[in-house]
Amino acid sequence: EDGITVGELAEMIGQTPANVIKVLFMLGTMVTINSSLNDEQVELICLEYGYEVKKKVIVSEINFEDIEIIDDEADLVGRPPVVTIMGHVDHGKTTLLDYIRKSRVAEGEFGGITQHIGAYQVEVNGKKITFLDTPGHEAFTAMRARGAQLTDIVIIVVAADDGVMPQTKEAVDHALAAGVPIVVAINKIDKEGADPERIKGEMSELGLMPEEWGGDTVYCNISAKKGIGIQELLETLTVVAELADLKANPKRYAYGSVVEGRLDKGRGPVATLLVQNGTLRAGDPIVVGTAFGRVRQMLGDHGKELKEAGPSTPVEITGLNDVPVAGDKFMAFETEKMARHVGEERQKAKQEQDRGVSSAMSLDDLFNQI
Ligand code: GTP
Ligand code: MG
Repeated sequence: EDGITVGELAEMIGQTPANVIKVLFMLGTMVTINSSLNDEQVELICLEYGYEVKKKVIVSEINFEDIEIIDDEADLVGRPPVVTIMGHVDHGKTTLLDYIRKSRVAEGEFGGITQHIGAYQVEVNGKKITFLDTPGHEAFTAMRARGAQLTDIVIIVVAADDGVMPQTKEAVDHALAAGVPIVVAINKIDKEGADPERIKGEMSELGLMPEEWGGDTVYCNISAKKGIGIQELLETLTVVAELADLKANPKRYAYGSVVEGRLDKGRGPVATLLVQNGTLRAGDPIVVGTAFGRVRQMLGDHGKELKEAGPSTPVEITGLNDVPVAGDKFMAFETEKMARHVGEERQKAKQEQDRGVSSAMSLDDLFNQI
């Protein structure tokens, strides 16, 4: 491979070759002025000196959470919306998703309570929608906050026989904080005592005035159990998603967030990931939080093995050396060596952070040490 050399790159970005060599040395690679660099190394150097690299992935050795990813406009294509379902405990979030997916997750839940974020993709009239199901129990505030951060649209489910409850309010707060469009689904309208108009009044007090009352929030009356109004709800989502004009670049290395991490007895660390940009492929070197490895097995939400997963796809992967934490970011890399290096650096930084040695380690800090 005869890519750009250290000397050439240094010249392009107005740095001395010694500085470039130093950065690479800190990243664990010994080079000379005549060594040629691979794409990732070039990107790391550019990033370090404040240059943007278009089209290719941009990586940082430690804080890839903070990196703004720049895509070439020409590479952007439409992507499915990520829709998070939120609301008070037992108001029917999982039942709604079950109806949409024709599955029966709610029935199998321990105590009838959702305890983690579920991620699913469904096709509605030929268009994909990714759904995140969140728990409504008061103990799971952090998960709701995470769900709201990952999403393009929030559905607030309110049971018509119960009305606005503490976690309904909390969910609205998360959605407003995330600044995403909100659709309200008034559920259980099949039940006696269901009073959708009262719910609209209560929700208006939270700032979600219905369209028909002169506000700008869309309301759907549904029964998740009986399947009433679901088609209208899905059509509403399609319209809201189209207005949002969501785009991503499937050509880049995958980037996204951890929905859930767990240790499986037989398979080792298992991570549920939401690919937010790029395409993740089986075999890709990957860093997930402070864990790293190669994507060994990749399953879709129906348990089917996938070779690749584009933007907005939820997947379950194995092959990591450690269990990542929900909310962690992940990034795929070109080479396993780089993934290992970035993963190890992040692990080290985290260990030091845990020990209180330093709150965050940057390359600057590293420089100051030598
Ligand atoms: P958490 O995830 O624990 O917050 O609950 P959830 O919002 O997911 O509620 P879930 O879907 O588990 O439903 C709670 C109960 O309400 C179950 O017994 C459902 O069968 C029932 N339920 C859900 N939707 C409807 C509906 O439209 N009508 C009626 N009658 N019952 C419903
Ligand atoms: Mg649930």
